[in-house]
Amino acid sequence: MEETICLIGFMGSGKTTVGETLAKKIGWHWIDLDAEIVKGTKMPIANIFAQKGEAYFRSLETQYLNDVLKATHTVVSTGGGIIVTPENVKMLEATNTFYLKWEFDILYERIANDKARPLVTSYKEVLERYKEREALYEAASRVVITCKNKTMMQVVDEILKHVKAC
Ligand code: S3P
Repeated sequence: MEETICLIGFMGSGKTTVGETLAKKIGWHWIDLDAEIVKGTKMPIANIFAQKGEAYFRSLETQYLNDVLKATHTVVSTGGGIIVTPENVKMLEATNTFYLKWEFDILYERIANDKARPLVTSYKEVLERYKEREALYEAASRVVITCKNKTMMQVVDEILKHVKAC
């Protein structure tokens, strides 16, 4: 078993909830990458995007991911755009990375009114982003977890089954 588990997936896919529950269940540390960035910069994600731009946020993401992956026995919940940076994909490929896959409409319904997510705009634009990213999530992950009709605990247990088999 490797030392870290990373969860990737589009906005609203439950990376945070699943990550926290999974870590608790196996007694590992849990890190939410966005929360670490907010803590480190003392700025909400929306403000980083608005004041410094997306490219700056992406460079922070790479820096923080690189740091947290030095840890052991740690579950990392990433931000939905982690896979747009090729350097991050390389890091994710080298560990236990799971893609929490959902159909777009379910995700959009969950995130549509969330003002804290700067990349949530119109249905059409967000769908475009989802389509652009699907293959990247699949390529960066070791296992794709199809989440539809599964409870959060079922998703957690499915991840654990794969980790134990590694
Ligand atoms: C982003 C997803 C967000 C956050 C930022 C950018 C993205 O995280 O990192 O707003 O590019 O998809 P969540 O996936 O937790 O919403």
